[in-house]
Amino acid sequence: MWDREARDRAGGARARRGERGARMGLRGSDPFVEQVRLATDILAVISPFLELHKAGKRWKGRCPFHAEKTPSFFVNQENQTFYCFGCREGGDVFTFLMMMEKVTFPDALKMLAERAGIEIPRRRFPGAAEGDDRLGEAIEVAASFFSDRLRSQEGGPARDYLMRRGIDEEQIARFGLGWAPASWDALLQHARRLLPERVLLSAGLVVEGERGLYDRFRERVMIPIRTPGGRPVAFGGRLLGDGEPKYLNSPETPLYKKGAILFGLSQARDAIRAEENVLVVEGYFDVISLSTAGIGWVVGSCGTALTAEQAMLLRRYAERWVLLFDGDAAGRTAVLRALDAAVPVHPGVRVALCPKGLDPDSWVRAEGPAAVRQALSRSYTPLQYVEEHVREEGLAPEVVLSRVADLLRKITDPLVRDLWVQDAAGRFRIREARIYEAIGRAGPGTASRPQPIAPAAASPERRPMGQRERQIVAVAVASPSLAAELREACAEIPEIDSRCGDLLAWIAERYLEGIVDEAALLSSASEDPDIWRGLDFLHGETGSVAEVPVDLVPRLRALGLQRRMRDLTDRIRRAEERGEPIVSLLKEKQDLAAALRETEAPDGERKSNFP
Ligand code: CTP
Ligand code: MN
Repeated sequence: MWDREARDRAGGARARRGERGARMGLRGSDPFVEQVRLATDILAVISPFLELHKAGKRWKGRCPFHAEKTPSFFVNQENQTFYCFGCREGGDVFTFLMMMEKVTFPDALKMLAERAGIEIPRRRFPGAAEGDDRLGEAIEVAASFFSDRLRSQEGGPARDYLMRRGIDEEQIARFGLGWAPASWDALLQHARRLLPERVLLSAGLVVEGERGLYDRFRERVMIPIRTPGGRPVAFGGRLLGDGEPKYLNSPETPLYKKGAILFGLSQARDAIRAEENVLVVEGYFDVISLSTAGIGWVVGSCGTALTAEQAMLLRRYAERWVLLFDGDAAGRTAVLRALDAAVPVHPGVRVALCPKGLDPDSWVRAEGPAAVRQALSRSYTPLQYVEEHVREEGLAPEVVLSRVADLLRKITDPLVRDLWVQDAAGRFRIREARIYEAIGRAGPGTASRPQPIAPAAASPERRPMGQRERQIVAVAVASPSLAAELREACAEIPEIDSRCGDLLAWIAERYLEGIVDEAALLSSASEDPDIWRGLDFLHGETGSVAEVPVDLVPRLRALGLQRRMRDLTDRIRRAEERGEPIVSLLKEKQDLAAALRETEAPDGERKSNFP
């Protein structure tokens, strides 16, 4: 969708690049945007999300984007803007909606246009006439269908199941839990009266088989997954008994990106703010049980280890984070992976483990919230945790050093890194110089100079980035909402120049700060010499954006998966040679193959030769 429009915007923005400091106002030139803006009152849009009180000419409340006790979030009805003096987030009604609902500018525009009853010109959203909003509608229809079924006669066994797990009516309502009946087409029959089948299919609610469409979710307790603003965008479905798979989740759709959402965030927001603390667990029922037990400031990463995007999302809500994972070996490894994502975003993150053999759900139900709270108050810093881990596993000194270096390398702030190096040196009895050597950075002294974000910018003999990398960055500049996804995809492909990843990370962060269009992005880049230099190639290279294929993200993903497949095949071969067990590796390979098949789904021939 970005091709034609983004190209136009890109061209225009390049022409405007010199205008320093011209930020969000640039959107103002579009008559349709202005029409929607005029028909919308920012106060009416914001007020459902938080309590506002009149303060002079403005309205004041507790900021929905960061944790605070005293209100520093202001809405100015006269200028139709908002600003928080605490976290310095601010902007217009579009910015607010984008931040609150985590949607792109076009989606926010569409939502507000619909709200104001303004018809959207078709050419604005090519191919999206039946687009994301209809997907959202389909998910809503399904959620209320499932919820009705849970309350109906046939929901009896599911209600019993939930009762046995300690979940009462109130929590069922709070999380909007439901029941997908034992039928191949119950939802299909119901929903096709309201929406085109094509929409149900792209919402992931029904699946196309040889003999037509059928319901994806059958005989499962249905758990809606929501945006931070509370809109359901996907489902997790759990079997009542044993069986495989225990959970079935919605596929990714334009509305639902798995690693970008935190389960339970919309329900937890107020509690997170009140507690000024957020607890991160892995499972759906971990979230629901803790919340039932009064620990409502909890969100779930849901199967994936915490991703960088989830970490960036968390940063909006609380200063203090605790990761609470299972006490078994799998849980301990999951913590290390989660720290990988959390530490670069928030080195202050802490870790707690459940007693062996328990997960947060079973723990809180066995021992009550007081026991959990007590353990949380004794949570570990990441280095303390690594120390624990090292002791548990009895790791060799070289392994310890590399574990520690892996973690320290992720810390971008040189001052914080120096502190950690000191801490690690004492804790593991390793000389500081050896640690610096292992992480491949200079020690203190040089560290007080600001570290350039794009490492290549620091080296004097700068080799230009390759055409492929330039294309990727150009796409992200034109459509900043894609940056995080592109960066994740690129991270899987070692051949891609690391400067590309750094630039993408920078763009992704700006996007989360509310900088969503190319013009605003470039004006922000012009304030940062390293980034500005990194983006230098955009100058005059008008062709670069035009040639980028539309399916860039899936292609990069496929490439990353192929590489992982090669690695995995190698590992399996080596394990076989050594006579080690390979069952779990084979399982991984199966999953990977399935993921690969999905990315290679027939979508016509590919014209471009990227990458
Ligand atoms: N998960 C998933 N698909 C699976 C298995 C797990 O999506 N096939 C995700 C779910 O979000 C699940 C989380 O990973 O909640 C943790 O998985 P696991 O520990 O196996 O399950 P529990 O949360 O303990 O599930 P339950 O308590 O319902 O048995
Ligand atoms: Mn469990």
